[in-house]
Amino acid sequence: MSQPHPTQIFMSNPKLLLAALTLDEKIKLLGGTMVRSSQARDGDVFGIERVGMPPLKFADGPVGVHWWTQASTCYPALICLAATMDAEQARAYGSALGDDCRAVGIHVLLAPGVNLYRSPLCGRNFEYLGEDPELSGQLAAAYIRGIQSRGVAATVKHFAANNQEYDRHGISSDVDERTLREVYLRPFERAVKEGGSACLMTAYGLLNGQHCSENSWLTDQILRGEWGFDGWVISDWTSVHSTVQTLNSGLDLEMPWGRFLNPAAVHAALASGLVSAAKLDEKILNRLQLMARFGWLNPQHRQLDPAIPSQNPASEAVALDVARRGMVLLKNDSACLPARPGSVRRIAVLGHHAQTSVLCGGGSSYTRPYSSVTLADALAQVYGPEVQLDLHACVAPWRGEAVFSASAFFTPDGQPGLAARYFEGDRFDGAPATATDDRLDFLLGESRPPAIKGGALFSAIWNGEIVIEEGGGTDFYMDTEDGYLDACLDGEPLFTSHRGPCRRTLELAPGRHAVEIRFRQTQKGYVKFRFGYEPAINARIDCEAGLTAAAQADLVIVAAGFVSQTEGESHDRDFEMDARLVRMIEDAAAVSSRIVVALYIGGAVQTVPWLDKVQAALCLWYPGQNGTLAAAEIIAGLTNPSGKLPFTWEKQLEDRGASACYQDADGDRRVSYDDGIFIGHRHFDRHGIEPRFPFGHGLSYTTFAYENLRIDSPAADGSATLRFDIRNTGKFNGTESAMIFVAAESSVPRPVREFKASATATLAPGERQTLAVTLPPRAFAFWHPDKKMWVIEPGEYTILVGPSAKELPLQAKLTLRGRTLS
Ligand code: BGC
Repeated sequence: MSQPHPTQIFMSNPKLLLAALTLDEKIKLLGGTMVRSSQARDGDVFGIERVGMPPLKFADGPVGVHWWTQASTCYPALICLAATMDAEQARAYGSALGDDCRAVGIHVLLAPGVNLYRSPLCGRNFEYLGEDPELSGQLAAAYIRGIQSRGVAATVKHFAANNQEYDRHGISSDVDERTLREVYLRPFERAVKEGGSACLMTAYGLLNGQHCSENSWLTDQILRGEWGFDGWVISDWTSVHSTVQTLNSGLDLEMPWGRFLNPAAVHAALASGLVSAAKLDEKILNRLQLMARFGWLNPQHRQLDPAIPSQNPASEAVALDVARRGMVLLKNDSACLPARPGSVRRIAVLGHHAQTSVLCGGGSSYTRPYSSVTLADALAQVYGPEVQLDLHACVAPWRGEAVFSASAFFTPDGQPGLAARYFEGDRFDGAPATATDDRLDFLLGESRPPAIKGGALFSAIWNGEIVIEEGGGTDFYMDTEDGYLDACLDGEPLFTSHRGPCRRTLELAPGRHAVEIRFRQTQKGYVKFRFGYEPAINARIDCEAGLTAAAQADLVIVAAGFVSQTEGESHDRDFEMDARLVRMIEDAAAVSSRIVVALYIGGAVQTVPWLDKVQAALCLWYPGQNGTLAAAEIIAGLTNPSGKLPFTWEKQLEDRGASACYQDADGDRRVSYDDGIFIGHRHFDRHGIEPRFPFGHGLSYTTFAYENLRIDSPAADGSATLRFDIRNTGKFNGTESAMIFVAAESSVPRPVREFKASATATLAPGERQTLAVTLPPRAFAFWHPDKKMWVIEPGEYTILVGPSAKELPLQAKLTLRGRTLS
């Protein structure tokens, strides 16, 4: 073994370090450290000890710094951050996360996610920043600057057009270039150019038929070539599908291990001449340059900063602040809110969500906090002992986990368990391996069922019986990842080609019923398949008592929404909330005329029929560990709500532009983005569709006036600065985020108006503030599909300013000369 190099010489000279590495060492740096097929997730990458190059530690974000179950501060969901529409909040959120990283020695944070909200169905909307490319980009850039100000590398993800979770490994998003440039790539562009994101993660799926992890157009041409990205491109977990093509693209690192970028495969690729040694060097140099940029090649550097506590009161304060700023008061009729502490004596708090900690959506971002506050705890804290709180969970929203592990089955010949046939391949053919499985509760991760010997995809069929003891309804639960589940009961379909969590309730006669369940794996990832049943009565907790309390209360708060099992990564969710929760709201509304619905959601839900029957509705999103305090303060009038919807809330799913082209209706694993550039509010404006709530909707306890819009003549670089005043015309202190749009006459179809920026003011009653916003030339340009460049057409542009996409009281004109932008 050679002598260790004096590492100091490499600190500022990554090229020298590159030259000191052997080929095998370079290859080792192409993949993460996870041991193949281990079920645990791993987030480290190798160092090379011989040359004093340290390994790097990754952690998941974006709502807390953690690797799976490690505890950390849990912040509100990113959709709540987006609802602040305030870049300063995003910067503070990012800085606090950066500190949390330094407290535990993390180098690279896998955040933020900037995939756009095309449909409320996407299971990961809560992790992203809403439907608008500019809003997402503006906030992502600030969040990244915050993280990186603490010496931690941010990773903007998932590049690109990963806007659904349904079949996310296999779906191709088919999107034309103009739509990509103006809409889906735009937040990434801002994250890279304005935020300086040090890392970028490619998406699971395919873009226009090619896996994003091997898509040179994305990673070489656009990212590095046009945007000047000089950082590290890493794959999403198990999303690399080739060796040669991936090596020849801009991807630098395969995570969580080198499935395709491993020594044997890379040596073979080099030997074939299809990949050059220089291309390999580029990838290694990207990592070394990143390490030099953050000082990680300095042998004295310690990423773990012992002065920062991992349970950090400063981070907890930021989490609470974001929740205070981002919760959205959707409706407030009959002066239902605020319900000031002295004015109410008895509050009925209904719903399981109020009594448990529903902090985050599910999946890799799920963050376990050191401590958390339920809505019931928060209300008790805010209202104090003088107010009586009657707590009733009423119904359980999801009992899947308990049901999967406890369901009893019998084989066709009466023995405990299910008769299983496992097939190599995903088509239920060939000679199966047989087994008896006690229950159907498989969380296999990267591993295979014991009966499957080969490494390919598999399929399986289970047959057996269930015993129903008494009538009154039976709940059937299922959940899958990376495959489809079909279930039949007494020969009738129960679940058909389903994936993700689902529940169905059936009335069944007591006795034995035959079940047949089929699972077909569709990709290799983190496979799971689960099925179970229980009497429906188990989900009813104390509905009658809850309604009695509601009838006697001065105020009724009904908490409802999704939980981490039903809204989260790897599956899409329904537009409808759980019917039992909707029923709970309606039943409460029948006995009380002062109902506040507290919603735990990552995006819009169906509001018919319940919204018209209640007086107020507050979006808590996923509030993080202490965000329920913000909700209690808003309900009690101690905090004035200021959040605004970062997406358009449709009356019905069909109203959204993407609704006809969001799902893979014909099963060809391609989704054509036929709605083009008309994402979200742009579609509603274009067709004059009245949304339930517009983009930017959010009520306050005070009122604001918008006044005096004026625009400076365009500066030499083509940017335009506008100024306007906001005045607090009501009785309470309040924060208002103004929304700025641009409308243009054009030779090509353009949105009626495009959102370009937001600006925030906090004002005491009677106070006025002048806000100034500079719009860069790009704010006026569109991507010309034939010229393949950004074009500003000569003519008149209208600037519109106001509180929401539907209320833009200030307007002024600006005349621009035509030009193209590089
Ligand atoms: C997610 C990424 C995440 C990674 C590591 C993947 O399933 O898509 O967002 O960072 O896992 O946990």
